[in-house]
Amino acid sequence: MFRLGHISDVHLPAVPQPRLRELISKRIIGYANWHQNRRGAMTTGSLELLTADLQAAEPNHIAVTGDLTNLALRDEFENARLWLEALGPPAMVTAIPGNHDAYVPRAHHRYRRLWAPWMSNDSQAEFVGPAIFPFMRRKDGVALIGLSSAVASAPFMATGRIGRRQTERLEKLLAEAGEEGLFRVILIHHPPKLIDPRRTLRRLTDGHRLRRAVARHGAELILHGHDHIRSVTAVRGPKGAIPVIGVPAGSSGPAAGPKSGGYALHDIDDRGSAWRLTVRHRCFDEKGRVQEALSLNFDVRKP
Ligand SMILES: [Fe+2]
Ligand SMILES: [Fe+2]
Repeated sequence: MFRLGHISDVHLPAVPQPRLRELISKRIIGYANWHQNRRGAMTTGSLELLTADLQAAEPNHIAVTGDLTNLALRDEFENARLWLEALGPPAMVTAIPGNHDAYVPRAHHRYRRLWAPWMSNDSQAEFVGPAIFPFMRRKDGVALIGLSSAVASAPFMATGRIGRRQTERLEKLLAEAGEEGLFRVILIHHPPKLIDPRRTLRRLTDGHRLRRAVARHGAELILHGHDHIRSVTAVRGPKGAIPVIGVPAGSSGPAAGPKSGGYALHDIDDRGSAWRLTVRHRCFDEKGRVQEALSLNFDVRKP
């Protein structure tokens, strides 16, 4: 049995005082917004409780699906690297970026360099260059495929895009991992299909590319963040539905309902002709304790 932990949207709160020059951009709106809405709700204490609970579950691996920062400032990327180091070594943790990590054009140079060890192929263990997407890592019968939907967008928008070239490489990786008989997990920040129509300005604009690729080549599980809410949906695969699981913001505190901070555990059990997948969301209850909020089983047929 392979246990995969999934945490997302940690939006690390240690926002340093930005230099004025760094604020002259979309960041001015983001900075005001963060001060107004997020400062109180997203505390380091909540994130520490969640990660302690996650570590206590002894996952074989942890996936982090983007939005590690708020404004894509240089100091935030460095803070996020320290957080990744504390979460686990690159062999145990895989990360991808979110739209906040690409808040302004050119920010991607920073995470592609600073977070590269957590965003690389297995063959790049001695990593020297910047991260390239998609990448694939093989772990005990599981293939983790990391996509980037992180692009800088106009003010008040938080859309994502994977593009044609990334999709072409994704198709090759899905086919390759499928032939090897691996349980294929796609990591992407934005949900592949719009869940809440009110979030159209925050959607994956070329979600059709991803949906078409998995409909053709298959995948066993898709994990995402971005919506800051726990969700269970599905997209079409060649042999039936593919589960799509979203987690709430990793640094949200206790709240009523599915927006309460949390993370997910995925137990992948190879039973010969099929896999048994058990998905558990663990979230804060009203008293601030981390509890199981949802548990689902899926019998996933082998390709
Ligand atoms: Fe987020
Ligand atoms: Fe996001």
